Amino acid sequence: MPPLSSLPVVLVGLPGAGKTTVGRNLAKSRNLRFLDTDQLIESQIGCTIREFFETHGESAFREIESSTISDLIGSTDCLISTGGGAVISSENRQKLQQHFNCIYLRATPEDLYRRLRHDKKRPLLQVADPLQAIRHLFAVRDPLYLEVAKVVVDTGRPSVGALVAVIERELQLQIQDTCPDAVR
Ligand code: S3P
Repeated sequence: MPPLSSLPVVLVGLPGAGKTTVGRNLAKSRNLRFLDTDQLIESQIGCTIREFFETHGESAFREIESSTISDLIGSTDCLISTGGGAVISSENRQKLQQHFNCIYLRATPEDLYRRLRHDKKRPLLQVADPLQAIRHLFAVRDPLYLEVAKVVVDTGRPSVGALVAVIERELQLQIQDTCPDAVR
């Protein structure tokens, strides 16, 4: 197994956890390319994910999502943000565990709902009771994110800058664990 610090960093977590915003800022501060699997998928399918869900269904989306994750194995100089459902399949979880340095941005269903209550993009949340839907997603997926994550960051209410600083520190600690003589 290669040292963790040599693997591409991937952000995982539920919709609204801040994967894209934190990812973009973290990539900038680490001087890396920012890749978002949802954006890569949308440019491949030529429509929004919500439209794709409506016309082709969720399982067709999950297949594209899995091959997008496979394509990113071995990527260098990038920081990746995944869609919230990337951990559903055990095959994906295996890839995420083995080939990436996963960071779970963890948030409570209530905080996620507060951020997403006006959202119109996420197909799984266009339901009568989105808070209930988020609670269900959390119950099912929290253990799966914990399974793949090398680092768990509770997002709560800190600023994006503060979260980026926490993640930077965790990544630095990983380097020190594998290479104790590294400069702090
Ligand atoms: C999904 C989350 C979305 C997107 C798709 C499915 C999910 O990404 O991949 O709508 O299953 O939770 P975000 O987590 O970026 O919202």
